[in-house]
Amino acid sequence: MTYETILVETFGAVTLITINRPKALNALNSQVCAELVRAFATFEADEAQGCAVLTGSGDKAFAAGADIKEMADKRAAEFFLADFFADWQSRLVKSTRKPWIAAVNGFALGGGCELAMMADFIIAADCAKFGQPEIKLGVAPGMGGSQRLTRAVGKAKAMEMCLTGRMMDAAEAERSGLVTRVVPLKELAEDALRTANLIASMPRMAAMVNKEMVNTAFETTLEQALVSERRLFQILTATQDKAEGMEAFIKKRPAVWQGR
Ligand code: HXC
Repeated sequence: MTYETILVETFGAVTLITINRPKALNALNSQVCAELVRAFATFEADEAQGCAVLTGSGDKAFAAGADIKEMADKRAAEFFLADFFADWQSRLVKSTRKPWIAAVNGFALGGGCELAMMADFIIAADCAKFGQPEIKLGVAPGMGGSQRLTRAVGKAKAMEMCLTGRMMDAAEAERSGLVTRVVPLKELAEDALRTANLIASMPRMAAMVNKEMVNTAFETTLEQALVSERRLFQILTATQDKAEGMEAFIKKRPAVWQGR
């Protein structure tokens, strides 16, 4: 599979996807978007792959947003008729059932922040900066920013960030629950790949079900989510990996996972 604006590498069962337009601070133009959709579909379909990491090239930006130069001349009808960025909600979020991590190595602004928040969790470099500055361009978040940021950090901070366009640094992002942890920039890739490798080494169906369960917390009522959790738990008890995991524990030996 050939790509021009992203790099895709595999390390064992981990796929590393790097947005590679450093001169434009990894701004998300339509080619990046299309290639990301393809790369995530390939990762999802490859049985050998268990977890992905998404990051940006260079040490300045994860992604500084949707490409403003590409959007500047488009009119409302074009955005509406193309259902701008709807693809990502369905392909990166809904159809990617395997876990993936955003390793945020600098600016994650506008669409870049929204893309990071589509990940199952975010590991941030100490230089990371998050923001929804769309208001300063006369628009507003358009791929989940106003919703996912509010759920992640609460109304007060999300509202202030959307209304003023101010950025949140990595320390504040960690305090606010937007990111899992903050690491020095030079350790970011290694930390994210090590974490992804650990996740990829887990029983595959259990990993996918755990992801689905946590995401359900954001999508439905507690009552429905608890029923869904019980049913998914019950389904997992039918897997070979459940039998293996419990037997291995009792016999005090390492488990050997089948992914089934
Ligand atoms: C296109 C961008 C870009 C973007 C940066 N660049 N962000 N190009 N789209 N989103 C380009 C610059 O034009 C410049 O190109 C080069 O990258 C380096 O950027 P500088 O501005 O010179 O760098 P710096 O002074 O360090 O400032 C960094 C920055 C700033 C604070 C991140 O670039 C910035 O404010 N960028 C825009 C952030 C933003 O508003 N994002 C939201 C976009 S709207 P040249 O050719 O001059 O070297 C959005 C909507 C999503 O995401 C919703 C869709 C449905």
